[in-house]
Amino acid sequence: MFKPYFLQAFVLFIILRSTLAHTLGRSQNGSVSDCRCFPVDQCWPTAAEWAAFNETIDGKLIATVPIASICHHDSFAPYDAGKCEQLQEDWLLPQTHYTSSSSIMGQFFANMSCDPFTDPSAQCVLGTYVQYAVNATGQGDFRTTMAFATDRNIRFVVRNTGHDYFGKSTGSGALGLWTHNMKDIEFFEYSSCNYTGKAMKMGAGVQVMEALTAAHNQGLVVAGGQCQSLAVAGGYTQGGGHSFMASLIGLSADQVLEWEAVTATGEYLVATPSDNEDLYWALSGGGGGTYAAVLSVTVKAYPDLEVAAANLTFTISEGVSTESFFAVVQTWLQNLPAIVDAGAVALWTLADGYFSVSPVFGPNLTVSELQVLLQPTLTALNQSGIPYSSYFAGYPTFLDAYNAMNPFEPVTDGNMGAYLLPRELVTSETNASALTDVLNKLVTGTSVVTGGVSLNVARGQDITQPVANSINPAWRDAIHYFAFGLPYNRTSLPANVEEWNLITNVYGPSIDALVPGGMSSYLNEGNPFDPDWKRVFYGDNYNRLLDIKERYDPNSIFYGLTCVGSDGWEVQEDGRLCRV
Ligand SMILES: Cc1cc2nc3c(=O)[nH]c(=O)nc-3n(C[C@H](O)[C@H](O)[C@H](O)COP(=O)(O)OP(=O)(O)OC[C@H]3O[C@@H](n4cnc5c(N)ncnc54)[C@H](O)[C@@H]3O)c2cc1C
Ligand SMILES: *[C@@H]1O[C@H](CO)[C@@H](O)[C@H](O)[C@H]1NC(C)=O
Ligand SMILES: *[C@@H]1O[C@H](CO)[C@@H](O)[C@H](O)[C@H]1NC(C)=O
Ligand SMILES: *[C@@H]1O[C@H](CO)[C@@H](O)[C@H](O)[C@H]1NC(C)=O
Ligand SMILES: *[C@@H]1O[C@H](CO)[C@@H](O)[C@H](O)[C@H]1NC(C)=O
Ligand SMILES: *[C@@H]1O[C@H](CO)[C@@H](O)[C@H](O)[C@H]1NC(C)=O
Ligand SMILES: *[C@@H]1O[C@H](CO)[C@@H](O)[C@H](O)[C@H]1NC(C)=O
Ligand SMILES: *[C@@H]1O[C@H](CO)[C@@H](O)[C@H](O)[C@H]1NC(C)=O
Ligand SMILES: *[C@@H]1O[C@H](CO)[C@@H](O)[C@H](O)[C@H]1NC(C)=O
Ligand SMILES: *[C@@H]1O[C@H](CO)[C@@H](O)[C@H](O)[C@H]1NC(C)=O
Ligand SMILES: *[C@@H]1O[C@H](CO)[C@@H](O)[C@H](O)[C@H]1NC(C)=O
Repeated sequence: MFKPYFLQAFVLFIILRSTLAHTLGRSQNGSVSDCRCFPVDQCWPTAAEWAAFNETIDGKLIATVPIASICHHDSFAPYDAGKCEQLQEDWLLPQTHYTSSSSIMGQFFANMSCDPFTDPSAQCVLGTYVQYAVNATGQGDFRTTMAFATDRNIRFVVRNTGHDYFGKSTGSGALGLWTHNMKDIEFFEYSSCNYTGKAMKMGAGVQVMEALTAAHNQGLVVAGGQCQSLAVAGGYTQGGGHSFMASLIGLSADQVLEWEAVTATGEYLVATPSDNEDLYWALSGGGGGTYAAVLSVTVKAYPDLEVAAANLTFTISEGVSTESFFAVVQTWLQNLPAIVDAGAVALWTLADGYFSVSPVFGPNLTVSELQVLLQPTLTALNQSGIPYSSYFAGYPTFLDAYNAMNPFEPVTDGNMGAYLLPRELVTSETNASALTDVLNKLVTGTSVVTGGVSLNVARGQDITQPVANSINPAWRDAIHYFAFGLPYNRTSLPANVEEWNLITNVYGPSIDALVPGGMSSYLNEGNPFDPDWKRVFYGDNYNRLLDIKERYDPNSIFYGLTCVGSDGWEVQEDGRLCRV
């Protein structure tokens, strides 16, 4: 099923760049010395210099071979029709990309550099993929790689799973620090003035399913996203991180006890609420790949719990009017506060004539409690005679429920935008009705698919002593992370640019207008081309984050589209990264 929630992004760049450059006062032609050294430049290391660097990291340097080179007549690998067909089939599986040191899931940002769906005679170049990656195992590799990139003025990027929707884990002419193979896991009792209890420490490469399984085996549960393969310590938790536990305990960044990191200047640090607390604050919600390279994260672990879960689907079929369909959608919206305040999280999709919640996930709830919570919506369906299918089940552990009720998510291609809908949009009849009208206009008769996650991430918070971290404050007040998008066009980059134009200039504003002053969004899953990205993704935290970034990364080696401080840089037409 097409899930808008996982729509991808890259875009507008080329078309918008000159406009943005103008409005933001950016230079159009920074001199080459203001740029990172590019592969075609004199300053680029020779083969012998790369080989010497490789020796300093025990042979862990990988020269990128784009995984789709088997689909093209190129110099990387021979064309192989059979293997190419298999790759096309597997393209939307996350493991196709995260097992590679270079491939990314946000297709727009791969820029058709070496695309399995283009003609065999079409280009297969390194393009926006990293040139080299270091298959890192520990702090020595982190330090040596960042030092080399700094000394040689080479673009640097941390790459973990390659999930990022904004292309923040790749870069033209970049050297990647690949953290995927750092899989250590430890459990222990933790005690600090902020927390006493079980804790779990994870290496940078530990993925959600590995974390949940290891915790399960200890009778514990930790926060981990809906997607099984995100790196917990990576961009996921560093960017905030929502999960099925979010309405019970808050976002994933709220769970962090310690970060172990190496800074751009090579310093090894442990950041906690009381040590290196500014770095702790920034890493916990202020975005991945910006402040330092993370070796591990230590998070709170909770006793395992029972889960009640449900799903519900209805459509506009014969005898169902658009009006009665949307009347139930409005009931659902007004039903949300009760559901999330009870600790549940709901993933749902709305498209033209189609509505599906899959699942409502209620940790620590019983099936009968969940039935009561959903009753207003079921009653409305019943009363309006709309046929629906529903399913309720209880599970003895978190992992059982996660495996049974969390449908496997392929990496759906798409171009998307998203907002955090404030709670007040559903707490009054008038506002819920206005929101419903906007949703109706957005999807009816269009190919726009919407979806997202309803939650209450303030519920687990002690209001008198809020967790000190840099999560966008808008999250605390949000009832729903709302994404909307259009399918990625595999044959035409300009067609995708047009879609992004629609998202940025037409669909986005129609939703944003519901809140005076505009809505906020999630920095991991928003519109990478939002012109107001500083406010939208970081709110009032931006200036403090920038100050921390400048202290820990004085040479600005960390860069990513919409990352804090990224407006000091610009990606040129050819992919070269230059100061503005
Ligand atoms: C299919 C899919 C499902 C998703 N589901 C959810 C979800 O349920 N909940 C949710 O909150 N989000 C979800 N996301 C968004 C996800 O949180 C982001 O894509 C996130 O950036 C992934 O982090 P990563 O480290 O795995 O990915 P990467 O693409 O490898 O990295 C993302 C960013 O983090 C940086 N980074 C990674 N590792 C490190 C490190 N060790 N040190 C410093 N910087 C690092 C990278 O440089 C990059 O900027 C989903 C995304 C996809 C594609
Ligand atoms: C751009 O190039 C022109 C012509 O070389 C030069 O006069 C101008 O100063 C440059 N601008 C910047 C910002 O580098
Ligand atoms: C780095 O060295 C290892 C071991 O000698 C070798 O296998 C690998 O190919 C080298 N990497 C590059 C990019 O040359
Ligand atoms: C990366 O290193 C790990 C060990 O840490 C090894 O198992 C794996 O094969 C290496 N991957 C590549 C592509 O070199
Ligand atoms: C789940 O419920 C139990 C029993 O009421 C409670 O002790 C526990 O703290 C709850 N778990 C969470 C994570 O809230
Ligand atoms: C739906 O309506 C029928 C008939 O009025 C009733 O028997 C049934 O319990 C209702 N179901 C729900 C879920 O409200
Ligand atoms: C609801 O969950 C059940 C059990 O996992 C599954 O069989 C069914 O396909 C799901 N339905 C929807 C619409 O997701
Ligand atoms: C830790 O505790 C201190 C003192 O109670 C408090 O000020 C701070 O906000 C807490 N930090 C976190 C991350 O919870
Ligand atoms: C992709 O874009 C091209 C050019 O606009 C168009 O002809 C084609 O139909 C689009 N493909 C899809 C699947 O929409
Ligand atoms: C309706 O939404 C507006 C704009 O977000 C808000 O100012 C107002 O308080 C809301 N009304 C109610 C009753 O929640
Ligand atoms: C993206 O692809 C276009 C068309 O091949 C090319 O002109 C452009 O330089 C590429 N952009 C980057 C950043 O590599």
